[in-house]
Amino acid sequence: MSIQQTLFGTMPDGTPIHLYTMSGDGISVSIIEYGARIARLQVDGIDVVCGFDSLEGYLADKDYHGSIVGRYANRIADGKFTLHGKTYQLAHNEVGRAHLHGGNIGYSSRVWDKVSATEEDGADLLTLKLRSPDGEEGYPGTLRIMVTYMRKGNSLSISYSAVSDADTIINLTNHAYFSLGGVGSTVLDQTLTLDCLHFVPVDEKLIPYGTLTHVEDTPFDFRTPKTVGKDIQAPHTQIQIGGGYDHCFVRNGGAELRNPEWIATLYSPKSGIEMQVFTTEGGIQIYTSNFMTAPNPFYGGIPQGKNEAIAMECNRIPDSPNQKNFPSPLLKAGEEYCQTTIYTFQKK
Ligand code: GLA
Repeated sequence: MSIQQTLFGTMPDGTPIHLYTMSGDGISVSIIEYGARIARLQVDGIDVVCGFDSLEGYLADKDYHGSIVGRYANRIADGKFTLHGKTYQLAHNEVGRAHLHGGNIGYSSRVWDKVSATEEDGADLLTLKLRSPDGEEGYPGTLRIMVTYMRKGNSLSISYSAVSDADTIINLTNHAYFSLGGVGSTVLDQTLTLDCLHFVPVDEKLIPYGTLTHVEDTPFDFRTPKTVGKDIQAPHTQIQIGGGYDHCFVRNGGAELRNPEWIATLYSPKSGIEMQVFTTEGGIQIYTSNFMTAPNPFYGGIPQGKNEAIAMECNRIPDSPNQKNFPSPLLKAGEEYCQTTIYTFQKK
């Protein structure tokens, strides 16, 4: 139990970026202020999250590695939504398609401020904050966000809270890419279990139709453990559209919970590492790194490759600002947005 602070790099404008490492009970997790990212996560010395050796790697990254994503994670159709009769045009960063992961400079590319790094009752806690001004990337309202990473025993939890001074929309998540067999291996042999009866079908721009589809008799049925690779090439339109899995899986119609509950388990037979995910969110975007082939390598020169990792983004259902059937992402002025997601690791 301890939090080590070292200098990780320097932003082009001279701002120093630190690496805060929390270790104990077989896990070690390092966070940086750039994007409030998980820059390294090791279980028994094995890297289980993809990342880079230097800040330059993160600055060049276009896949949101380890970052906190917002103000609205995932896609908003045409980057447009209407709130109280006014239409807002957000940054259109997926050209010809959508607003993705908060726009051109989303929270994943902002430098967060450290609030505190403390040890309490056997836990390590790191709190970071960000002020997102009114109009940033087109969103209404100044939003103040706090994210706390806590390592306790064999678990890492991420707690989010945010308050806006005007009505706005919000959907925050963490975009770590897990590779439990060790970075550089494949996720196709890993077993995934999801507590989700439905998934969200999308059009060719990966925008939801606004419906939920039952997973039964589809490649999306992970209610009992199944390898990620088993149906990843199934002749199913939704798999073809995503080039694999790139879909939101939904628990309980997308309803959010007060306290985190189990939603997913991922297990690697190669390393014997199992991860369980608990969240307050009603959805989990499963993205099997279908187009992750960026030129900058992971730790120690490991090349990036398709299906090398799996992002498990606990969040609201994509495009919910435009979809009446999905739970609303509205955050009213002065009210508090809260989310908690916990990852626990054990060797089997
Ligand atoms: C999410 C999206 C994917 C992709 C990745 C980032 O998971 O659903 O389509 O954009 O982020 O590369």
